[in-house]
Amino acid sequence: HERVGPDIEIRPLAESDYTRGHFQLLTVLTEAPAISPERYVERFRSMKACKDTYYTVAFIHKPTDKLVAVGTVFIERKFLRGAGVVGHIEDIAVSSSMQGRRLGLYLINSLEEIARSSGCYKVILDCSKDNIPFYEKCGFQLKEYEMALYF
Ligand code: ACO
Repeated sequence: HERVGPDIEIRPLAESDYTRGHFQLLTVLTEAPAISPERYVERFRSMKACKDTYYTVAFIHKPTDKLVAVGTVFIERKFLRGAGVVGHIEDIAVSSSMQGRRLGLYLINSLEEIARSSGCYKVILDCSKDNIPFYEKCGFQLKEYEMALYF
């Protein structure tokens, strides 16, 4: 908390964050049409019901009570690696007015820490070529290729 400045609070995503601009924030990442408040709560609770699996960290700008950074680490259970676990970092977004303040770096650090304390032997993510320098600054290294099949 000290490193991000006194105007930012860091906490797990809350059901009530629907009204704190979660979808406006996600538009920095991709097209993010808002879902209904009911659907939001339903999705939130279904994730919570998967015990120890979805961790979404939210950075709140205290003066405006709005989300300014958000990201998720998903904990995947494997048969391999002695029934090991892998962290997948997903949907990282820092609001454009807050970019360059190291919030992205601290967000990745906190998701990494969750993966570590969940027992993950590695944490991985997919990103665009443009974001490679950012993730390198976070300590990640380029590995393999992503493939996708869209429906
Ligand atoms: N190219 C080169 N260096 C960069 C870039 C970049 N595109 N972005 C950040 N950096 C560097 C910074 O200069 C800084 O370096 P320094 O420590 O030497 O000063 C370091 O990386 C940390 O930067 P932050 O200030 O923490 O970055 P920021 O808070 O702006 O967050 C992020 C970076 C998350 C990429 C943000 O710009 C963003 O939300 N972009 C739009 C959405 C997006 O692309 N999200 C990631 C998708 S990938 C995924 O979700 C798994």
